[in-house]
Amino acid sequence: MNLFSDRISAIDTENAFKIGPYIQEVEATGKRVVRCNLGEPDFPLPLHIREAVKKALDQDLSHYCDPQGIMQLREAIAEHISQTRKIIMKPDRVVVFPGAKPPIGLCQEAYCNPGDEVIYPSPGFPIYESFTGFMGTTAVPLHLQEEKGFSFSANDLEPLLNERTKLIYINFPSNPTGGVATKKELADIASVIRKKVSRLARIYSDEVYEHILFDGAKHESIATFLPEQTIIVSGVSKSYSWTGGRIGWACFPTVEEAQVFKNLNINYFSCISAYNQMGAAHAITSPESAVEIEKMVKAFQERRDLVVQGLNAIPGITCRSPRGAFYVFPNIAGVCKQLGVLEAYDGLPADIRKKTSPATLFQMFLLFRHNVATMDRKSFGRKGSEGKHFLRLSIATGTDDLKRGLEAIGRAAKDVDGFRSFIHEGKRLY
Ligand SMILES: Cc1ncc(COP(=O)(O)O)c(C=O)c1O
Repeated sequence: MNLFSDRISAIDTENAFKIGPYIQEVEATGKRVVRCNLGEPDFPLPLHIREAVKKALDQDLSHYCDPQGIMQLREAIAEHISQTRKIIMKPDRVVVFPGAKPPIGLCQEAYCNPGDEVIYPSPGFPIYESFTGFMGTTAVPLHLQEEKGFSFSANDLEPLLNERTKLIYINFPSNPTGGVATKKELADIASVIRKKVSRLARIYSDEVYEHILFDGAKHESIATFLPEQTIIVSGVSKSYSWTGGRIGWACFPTVEEAQVFKNLNINYFSCISAYNQMGAAHAITSPESAVEIEKMVKAFQERRDLVVQGLNAIPGITCRSPRGAFYVFPNIAGVCKQLGVLEAYDGLPADIRKKTSPATLFQMFLLFRHNVATMDRKSFGRKGSEGKHFLRLSIATGTDDLKRGLEAIGRAAKDVDGFRSFIHEGKRLY
């Protein structure tokens, strides 16, 4: 008998949470690490939302509540979705979760049998792929191309679609690339899905970065074009800089589906804290939120310009300008070549090679020798990530730190001797 089930070894993880102890290890030696690894805005929770949470606590909203989500919040979400996606959404099709992350796995649980095909973007949020292993569904990565701005077209998706396709995750603006599909691309994608897959297949549209768009762009959703098959997911973590609030939601095509997820909530969570839900309802409905979001997006856009320009000035790195979210996703193939990373990787024992990648080696070298925390390519979908040399840097870090980080990356990119000695030491290679 084994202690753990077979399926538990098949679940992956989100490395952004795993890198914390490594940063502490470096900082324990007296050095300070520039944190470009975090996926959370570095702004405080806006005051008006804070006050709404406090008021709800004073009203004693600290008990069990509706497992589907309190009505005030579901009404606010339904109204916001109806207006912005130009569809009819009703509170009885909205379910609130402890964050936008839980519905990712719950949707595979609720809609898929083992072997059903699940399509997801790669690079993409790692939890989509993680759950394919856990649920025994068939993972079908949709590889996003740098040349296409990390978006994809109906033509790219079409060959992956068939009668076994059950769930299609899409995520615009995207983590980790900042890619954003145009309205026309979304319309074409919807039309190819309508043509090629069962009407019982579902699109999981992860729209958690819906408010974080640059250059005056407006958020577009595939739900506008295919409402009868789309689940729209969003939450408070990114829009209101409230990752600790743990409030997310999904808007389903039917009441029947919402009821299934309400029951999953009952089984897993009972309900989600009512006082935070009141804060979320206020965040969605208060005009003050738009002002706070605008400030945050302006800061992200300025940092994006600084970081993209800074990275492109480093020999061996090329970086496209993201159109949304708060990440940049530079191509480091040139650095891998000039530092001898590929040869170093090829020279590692097979068991270590399996756990690392050239981008991982440079990521760890950057952290341990040059004190900048970033994320490697394979943290955003392992399947088919071989031979792709990218890093993700979060720009949810102050400008002074970003400048320090850029200088350190520039030094690391030409530190041939340092990299050789790092590999020779062989301590932190994954
Ligand atoms: C694409 C994407 N989806 C979902 C989530 C989860 O967000 P939450 O904090 O609401 O669970 C994240 C967080 O990083 C994300 O980047």
